[in-house]
Amino acid sequence: MSTVRLSPTVAGLASSATLVLNARIQAMQADGIDVINFTAGEPDFPTPRRIARAAIRAIETGLTRYTAVRGILPLRKAIVTRVEQDYGLSFEPDDVVVSNGGKQCLDNLWRSLLAPGDEVIVVAPYWVSYPPQIQLAGGVPIVVRTRIEEGFQLDVDRVAAACSPRTRAVLLNSPANPSGVTIGDGRLAAIAELCCDRELLLVTDDLYYKMVYGDFRWRHPASLVPEVLRNSLIIGGVSKAYAMTGWRIGYALGPRPLIDAMIKVQAQATSNPCTISQYAALEALTGMGGDEEVTRMVAEFERRRDLMYQLVAAIPGLECVKPQGAFYVFPRVSAYFGRRTPDGRTIASAMDLLEYLIDTARVAGVPGSAFGGPDHIRFSYACGVETIEAGMARVAGALDGLM
Ligand SMILES: Cc1ncc(COP(=O)(O)O)c(C=O)c1O
Repeated sequence: MSTVRLSPTVAGLASSATLVLNARIQAMQADGIDVINFTAGEPDFPTPRRIARAAIRAIETGLTRYTAVRGILPLRKAIVTRVEQDYGLSFEPDDVVVSNGGKQCLDNLWRSLLAPGDEVIVVAPYWVSYPPQIQLAGGVPIVVRTRIEEGFQLDVDRVAAACSPRTRAVLLNSPANPSGVTIGDGRLAAIAELCCDRELLLVTDDLYYKMVYGDFRWRHPASLVPEVLRNSLIIGGVSKAYAMTGWRIGYALGPRPLIDAMIKVQAQATSNPCTISQYAALEALTGMGGDEEVTRMVAEFERRRDLMYQLVAAIPGLECVKPQGAFYVFPRVSAYFGRRTPDGRTIASAMDLLEYLIDTARVAGVPGSAFGGPDHIRFSYACGVETIEAGMARVAGALDGLM
C-alpha cells in the first residue's frame, strides 16, 4: 500500500462523473454494442485541409522548435486583427498570450489573479472546469444560479448580491456550455457597469462566440460599455469554431500587467503552446476561405440545433430552453425522478436516469451535476442528423418505459 499523501486541495476536488461515464461507454463500444454518444464536447467535422496542410508545411520547413512563451508574433497579430473585426475592440500584439487551449488561459488567469480566499463569480449552469480551476489556484468560486423558468438568463441583481469585499472577478460564458444560452445586450451592459463600479475583472469565455444562430448578434460587453475594457480579459480559441480541439490553441487578451503575469505562469508550467499548432492556428485565422468554412459549419449546427430542440421538447416531461449558440441542449429531466425502471430500480437523480438510458436505450449524455445543474442532462448535437433522430427516438422510448 502506497504511503503517498495527496495535496488537500487536489484531494478535495470532485472527481469527474463524465470520465466514469465515458469509460463505461467506451467499454460497451469495445464489446461491439451500438451506443449513441451525445457526450461530445467538440465538433464532429475534420479540421479543414488548408489548416492541416499549414501544420505539415511547418514541420517540413523546420518550424519545430520552441517559440516565445507568449506565442509567435504573426499569430498574435492575427488574433488582434480578428478581435478588431469581430469585436470592434483594439489591442496590441503584446496584449495577447497564446496558450494550450482556452483552458490553459483560464488556469493561467486564476493563478495570476487570485490570492488565497479570493472569490470569483461563476454563473450556473457552468462549464465543468470553472470551479475546480479556481479552487486549484486557491480561490473560491461563488456560484450564482440562473433558472430554467427565466430561460437561464442572468439576474444582475443576484450577481451584485453575491459580491463581497473578496470578489475579484466575474466570469461570463456566452453562448454557454452546457445550456447554449446567450446573454443579451441589456444584461451585458449591466454586468459591465457593475464590474466598473466595483473594480472587478470581467472575464469573458468567448470560445463559442462564432457559433450563434438565428438573428442573434454576438457582442462583447466592452462594445456596449467601453470603460469596462481596461478591466476585461477576453478568452478565445480555435478549438470549436475551426474544429481544432486536438491542436490545443487558445488565447487571452487583456490588461498588459495581467497578460505578463499569465505569461510568467505559463513560462514555468509549459512554455509555448505547440509550435506546429500555432502555425495551423495562424492559417485558421488568416487563410483564404476561413469564414466560409466557419459559416458552413455553423449553418449545419443550426440545422441540428433546430432538430435536436424540436425532438427534446416533444418528449413529455423534458423541459428545455432553446439554445442560441454552441452545440448542446440541457433539458431538465427531474419530472422522471421517483419513477421506477421495469426491473424495479427507482430513478433518484440525473445520473440514475443516464445509467438507465445507457443500459436500456444505449444512449449517453452528461449528467447536469457536472455543470451545477443537477436536475438536467446535457446532450451534444455535434453529430449527424440521423444520429440525433435515432438517439432521441430511443430516449423517448426508454422514458416512456418508466413507471
Ligand atoms: C465553455 C468552454 N470554455 C473553454 C473550453 C476550453 O476549450 P479549449 O481548451 O479546447 O480551447 C471549453 C471546452 O469544452 C468550453 O466548453
